[in-house]
Amino acid sequence: MGKKIFSGVQPTGNLHLGNFLGAIKNFVKLNNDDNNECIFCVVDLHSITIPQNPKELKKNIHNTVATFLACGIDPKKSIIFNQSQVSAHSEASWILSCVARIGWLNRMTQFKEKAGKDKEKASIGLYSYPILMAADILLYDTTHVPVGNDQKQHLELCRDIAQKFNNDFNMKDFFKEPEPLIQKEFSRIMSLKDGLKKMSKSEPSDQSRINLNDNESQIVTKIKKAKTDPLPLPSTIKELEKRPEAKNLLGIFSSLSGQTLEKSVNEFSGKNFSKFKENLSQLLVDKIVPISSEIKKLLNDKNFLEDVLLNGCGKADAIASKKLKKIHEIVGF
Ligand code: TYM
Repeated sequence: MGKKIFSGVQPTGNLHLGNFLGAIKNFVKLNNDDNNECIFCVVDLHSITIPQNPKELKKNIHNTVATFLACGIDPKKSIIFNQSQVSAHSEASWILSCVARIGWLNRMTQFKEKAGKDKEKASIGLYSYPILMAADILLYDTTHVPVGNDQKQHLELCRDIAQKFNNDFNMKDFFKEPEPLIQKEFSRIMSLKDGLKKMSKSEPSDQSRINLNDNESQIVTKIKKAKTDPLPLPSTIKELEKRPEAKNLLGIFSSLSGQTLEKSVNEFSGKNFSKFKENLSQLLVDKIVPISSEIKKLLNDKNFLEDVLLNGCGKADAIASKKLKKIHEIVGF
């Protein structure tokens, strides 16, 4: 049986290699299987949980759609839309926030990381962010959610919310509990500057990540400068455990080339980093530069990108508003 796929990406700056290898690569694979129904959402409501420059946000929404398409998502086979244009997301989020418990949200590690030391000054939206994410998923009777490892806890919360709603209102199976689709390996790509930190859009240094719109020379320079350790590359996976940078770079190489980590370890065993980095740079250039050129091309055609969104919003709205209507009936509105 086909899967009902939903996933979202925030339009906050350039998408990077972590987004690609952790999530978007998987979106493309799922989208290519005609049995699946896929919905990919530009989650602009989520992005304003931290302040955004309005002009930049508009550009970033287009940039995210262009990146989806450039990576190979086919808008004829999937629904691509931006969250703010389908009001059911905000409305369902409110109702679900009356079901979710404060204790559940207090456990969310991403909030703790993003809010930093001064939690009192974080927005309420940043705190309740996973509830909006649950609304996104549950409105579409999603069966599977492809995400990177960092979203695992949010998906568990989504399942808890679905279960509690069904129980509270005695509506068995009304909300489907979605399965996360998290790749076993390479589901957490780390910073090029620190193998213990996640590759992230919010990290101030651009040198810490490969952006999907980087050109050849940017990619080569970033890999040349990427942090390593002084030893040659190891001959076993076990030895990588104490060498986070080597593990991350070999992971990136494996994921991009579609081979196991074991094979990559064997291929570069005993070699020094400079040799390995040449191979890694070349592979990244081969895979990322075509995406980057396509993004630039697509960004010149804003009307086309707007059309993709408009078309997607219409389709998403038809599904989501129907589910919201049922939610209203169940709740007693
Ligand atoms: P966001 O925009 O932070 O990231 C988009 C996707 O990229 C994955 N990702 C990574 N994977 C591996 N390594 C990394 N360094 C890395 N950085 C990011 C994320 O896991 C994600 O899959 N809350 C979500 C967006 C969202 C959503 C949803 C996702 C909103 N509603 C409903 C699924 C379903 C987020 O902030 O993703």
